[in-house]
Amino acid sequence: MDKICVEGGKRLEGQVGISGAKNAALPILASSLLTDGTCRFTNVPNLRDIHSIVQLLESLGAYVEFEDDMVLVNAASLANSEAPYELVRKMRASILVLGPLVARLQHARVSLPGGCAIGARPINLHLKGLASLGAEIELQHGYVEARAKRLRGAEIYFDTVSVTGTENILMAAVLAEGVTVLRNAAREPEVVALANVLNRMGADIQGAGTAVITIRGVDFLKPVEAAIIPDRIEAGTFMVAAALTAGDVTLTGCEREHLGAVCDKLQQAGAQIEQRPGRIRVRREGPLASLDIRTQTYPGFPTDMQAQFMVLMAMANGQSIITETIFENRFIHVSELKRLGADIVVSGENAIIRGQTSLSGAPVMATDLRASASLVLAGLVAEGVTEIHRVYHLDRGYERIEAKLKKLGASIWRAQI
Ligand code: EPZ
Repeated sequence: MDKICVEGGKRLEGQVGISGAKNAALPILASSLLTDGTCRFTNVPNLRDIHSIVQLLESLGAYVEFEDDMVLVNAASLANSEAPYELVRKMRASILVLGPLVARLQHARVSLPGGCAIGARPINLHLKGLASLGAEIELQHGYVEARAKRLRGAEIYFDTVSVTGTENILMAAVLAEGVTVLRNAAREPEVVALANVLNRMGADIQGAGTAVITIRGVDFLKPVEAAIIPDRIEAGTFMVAAALTAGDVTLTGCEREHLGAVCDKLQQAGAQIEQRPGRIRVRREGPLASLDIRTQTYPGFPTDMQAQFMVLMAMANGQSIITETIFENRFIHVSELKRLGADIVVSGENAIIRGQTSLSGAPVMATDLRASASLVLAGLVAEGVTEIHRVYHLDRGYERIEAKLKKLGASIWRAQI
């Protein structure tokens, strides 16, 4: 078990490279199941979650190579269509193989992903969508089993906007017979990235990035070479780190286009943001201003940036309110931030943050991916040393975060427990 230690008080400055997006790579790697050729993906982040889905693809019988940031997948001879509990429990996004397996093999048996720290995270919309496409769905012994000789196009309405729900049904529909229309679809950049890769494989998808996506089924998809888009949440996390430490940091390998709401809130809080092709510069000279934030589906303020902004608001002048509308239990980081001295009160979906507290370092516990990022950020400005335990949460979604922060001037190191 590792812990990450951070000694607060260092101003961050310099350049940091942003890795490929975990939440784009996961569905795109799953989409390689839809073809019997060899797909080649670059700019793939080296993360626990990526290794998990690689392990799952191999257990299905695919041939996978993962070298540096390149992943090569050949799913010509799939041996089985089962995603076992011991793999799915490690990463709930494994559910993303369900749609492709039913489309390609007419059958899938996938362990139900339980809930997680941030919420129950049901998959009813994934199953409703597959059933609408004509799959027979059975839930037994903690597994979902889906069968269909050939999926048929349908009109599907998502009661709630679901990112992986949209992605799963998108991947099922591309080989279905006829036309599928998804309504109230997720508009996240990762959904658009998946649709772009599928279209380059020969799919016929229109409207990705809007709430209505139309898919005309095709009989066959060819392999593809594609680069994974930059990780907008990793970028947002480093932008907050720069603003938090009154630093001057330039992010490379990323675009502002997917960070509109985050840039808007950072500027309102007092940061200066400059944008050039492939890079974003974030500085802060003046005081941090408090502000209210409400998480929403894209292009609204992303829930995956909520915990990071809470740290920023804990250091701002005045009171802020953060409203979490996407997940029912995504304030777990609050109790750990309060141990560092933050003044936060949670009431239902709202967290009230009384700012301009000084934080003092202490041992804290990571509970989920973005909560652990917020604890590292808090450590950057807490007086003394903050020890973050259970950093495996962090390693799921941030590539070499301590090396990247250290290069920017942070006093941060990983230690064995
Ligand atoms: C994706 O999760 C991301 N994960 C999450 O990132 C992100 O927080 C989330 O989208 C919201 O943006 C990946 O892309 C791998 P949802 P997902 O389905 O698809 C409810 C991170 O930190 N819902 O959009 O699982 C659900 O309970 C992770 O990288 C249903 O009710 O999220 C939630 O309240 C954390 N039924 C809301 O919809 C369903 O069938 C949004 O969930 C599906 C979802």
